[in-house]
Amino acid sequence: MIGDIKMTSLKFIKAENYEELSKIGAAFFVQQLNEKPASVLGLATGGTPEGLYKQLVTSYKQGEVSFENAVTFNLDEYTGITEDNAASYHHYMAENLFKHVNIQASNINLPKGNVADPEASTVAYEALIAQAGGIDLQLLGIGVNGHIGFNEPHTPFTATTTIIELTPSTREANQIYFDKLEDVPTHAITMGIKTILNAKKIVLVMSGESKRKAFEQLRSGKVSEDFPASALHLHEDVTVIYTDID
Ligand code: GLP
Repeated sequence: MIGDIKMTSLKFIKAENYEELSKIGAAFFVQQLNEKPASVLGLATGGTPEGLYKQLVTSYKQGEVSFENAVTFNLDEYTGITEDNAASYHHYMAENLFKHVNIQASNINLPKGNVADPEASTVAYEALIAQAGGIDLQLLGIGVNGHIGFNEPHTPFTATTTIIELTPSTREANQIYFDKLEDVPTHAITMGIKTILNAKKIVLVMSGESKRKAFEQLRSGKVSEDFPASALHLHEDVTVIYTDID
């Protein structure tokens, strides 16, 4: 216990390589959907989960899993770019998962970043998650600065879905998906840390040297709003799958 905060222990799984990380991560989702076909899944974007989604598509094609009754909620989306922009998370999810599996379009949810009233859409997104019964299994990646979703350092752990200003380091890290830095949106809409912690089970995937500092901070067990991923120490069922870091 730290004060009145209940500390739990994260489970760490070291994968031999990226392919194994992807397989172990995908197995969490296959098991979840087989145990509860109408599961509510929280999904993430970024380079790290791409292999996991490939494995899920393979499992689907081999008849090992069905998305027919699954409901999904993505963590985040940029504001100010259209959903058909190749760098949008709507586009990423369609390309990496949705168009390859039997998920129903009406069961897919992503935060809406390109609307007239983004603030209203943050409230609507929380309501939708609640209506669906909450998230059963949440996938997370992690930013080099420890962000989860787009919850940048110093986001309160009590935050629900919100509009956030991206830090210069995040905009630089994500520039690879855009033609130039000026094209990277300055803001995003993201599930809040509280929203993420409400998920029943969480799987975090992290890979590669660029995540070493974040990995060490997470391993240290120190809980601080300076390092958003440290909020995961307050959750009872988090598995971190990592590779190519130590
Ligand atoms: C983006 C996403 C995060 C993701 C992070 C890391 O900022 N909003 O959800 O975890 O990138 O991405 P990568 O896996 O490419 O390092």
